[in-house]
Amino acid sequence: MEDQCLLKPRSADGQLRVLQITDTHLFADENGDLLGVKTAQSFNAVLEEFQKQNIDFDFVLMTGDISQDYSVESYQRFANMIKCLNKPVFFLPGNHDDGPLMYRIFNRLGVSTARNIICGNWQFILLNSEVYGVAHGWVQRDQLEYAERCVEEHPNLHSVVCIHHLPLLVGSDWLDTQTLHNQDEFHVFMQRFPAVKLVLSGHVHQEVDVIRQNIRYIATPSTSIQFVPKSRDFALDSKGPGWRYFSFSKDGSIDTVVCRLNTDRFRPRMDVGGY
Ligand SMILES: [Fe+2]
Repeated sequence: MEDQCLLKPRSADGQLRVLQITDTHLFADENGDLLGVKTAQSFNAVLEEFQKQNIDFDFVLMTGDISQDYSVESYQRFANMIKCLNKPVFFLPGNHDDGPLMYRIFNRLGVSTARNIICGNWQFILLNSEVYGVAHGWVQRDQLEYAERCVEEHPNLHSVVCIHHLPLLVGSDWLDTQTLHNQDEFHVFMQRFPAVKLVLSGHVHQEVDVIRQNIRYIATPSTSIQFVPKSRDFALDSKGPGWRYFSFSKDGSIDTVVCRLNTDRFRPRMDVGGY
């Protein structure tokens, strides 16, 4: 199928290891500031920490909001920065991104535009939930049908569906207005496919890990600012930039851990009322 990328697991035990990063919110300006956090600096500090930890993994999954200003330069910045990991990089667009622009330029910048990654006993299906110019998400029928085709083409693979907008409410009134607005349609659709083990998202800038009707839903802290969980009004968390490692086993089980930078260097301004 077009858009497909076949990768061989690096580990001899068939275990597949993936690094998820999300919501870098980069600017054209390298000193671009999101609510007091210079996002290129926080992302750079995260990349330095990966390299220090020296954990091997198969590829990077970037789950959207690479940019904060929709600029070509912000995407060039991302591609230049992520190069240091020397691993395949895959992405999907978020609500702060310009999806059509990303699909046009990323291949030649070294970031893959594949939407279906097959590696060992697993496949990853990258969907677009972006609604241009607004914060909430909507997954179009053609995206769901693309997921269906991928699952049906490889009935023996375990599947991970990746989508920027977490298709769940998180108990934050302000953030729950920016959710995937057709999440019921999404759930009903995914329930038809027992091969779908995980739905993986960004967008909520906090850690989420729940199981709903046999599918695990996971979201991951941003490499920039964090939102306070279960807050009625917009509120920023003082926790450090984060990311997530995954280990996918041949038998369909999933291990994951969230890591954060242990520093006060990237504390946001706490007096702001929105973003
Ligand atoms: Fe975001």
